[in-house]
Amino acid sequence: MSAEVIYGKQLAEDLRQEMKQEVSELHKQNIFPKLVVIIIGEDPASKSYVKGKQKASEKIGMDSDLIELPEETSEEELLNLIDRFNQDRTVHGILVQLPLPEHIHEQKVIEAIDPSKDVDGFHPINVGKMLTGQDTFYPCTPFGILVMLKRAEIELEGKHVVIIGRSNLVGKPVGQLLLNENATVTHCHSRTKNLRDHTKRADIIIVAAGKPDLITGEDIKEGTVVIDVGVNRVDGQLTGDVEFESASEKASHITPVPKGVGPMTITMLLHNTIKAAKQIHN
Ligand code: GUN
Repeated sequence: MSAEVIYGKQLAEDLRQEMKQEVSELHKQNIFPKLVVIIIGEDPASKSYVKGKQKASEKIGMDSDLIELPEETSEEELLNLIDRFNQDRTVHGILVQLPLPEHIHEQKVIEAIDPSKDVDGFHPINVGKMLTGQDTFYPCTPFGILVMLKRAEIELEGKHVVIIGRSNLVGKPVGQLLLNENATVTHCHSRTKNLRDHTKRADIIIVAAGKPDLITGEDIKEGTVVIDVGVNRVDGQLTGDVEFESASEKASHITPVPKGVGPMTITMLLHNTIKAAKQIHN
């Protein structure tokens, strides 16, 4: 079998086209969705991510401000800034790029963002809403994966989903979203014993471990849906966590890296910001 490749990039472009239309309609109602992205320090990967977020916002006609702060910014300064944007009625979404420098308490910052402007979906109130199956801002990468699976018409109900990775950004929330879709979810991680015993039983496997070639064709059964969330640089090349060649011989569907899950993350951020703008003005 040779897998059908699911290109998140194409889907992301289609969705952004629809969003551009939606933003233009909102402008006619005097609603101007606006995202503020805050980045602290000089990490090149983070800088490149936030530039991508800002560019994508501009492309759909959405207002966005990028606030670049030096590495030595204090926690208090950051919290004060967040508070200012919490009060600012023209700002609908606030995103603080992670990771933060060590002297800043990440969870404190996440909890300082008004949950109604938390377009990352990281605030415990929004995480709790997701856990209890309520509509809220869902974290962008997990949400993007869910939308990709649905658009590819992949059945989720009763399917065995094996997730590798248990981060707050991807592994944990994607499991929750798929559980909400009535999938049976197994979470694997760095301490899991006999990983292959689990992956061989998966109907859908989601790999978010940050380890190049962690999963190969040997690790999956025929007809598995393989979602690769890995973002690794090997010899200057962007690569995922899945050995694409061997896995695509056995999988029914597979996402590539790049052009797979990545572009969907930013797309769902735009979606969440539009949602926030509509909620504030309703
Ligand atoms: N760093 C890597 N991914 C993300 C994300 O989705 N949101 C934020 N805020 N930081 C990140």
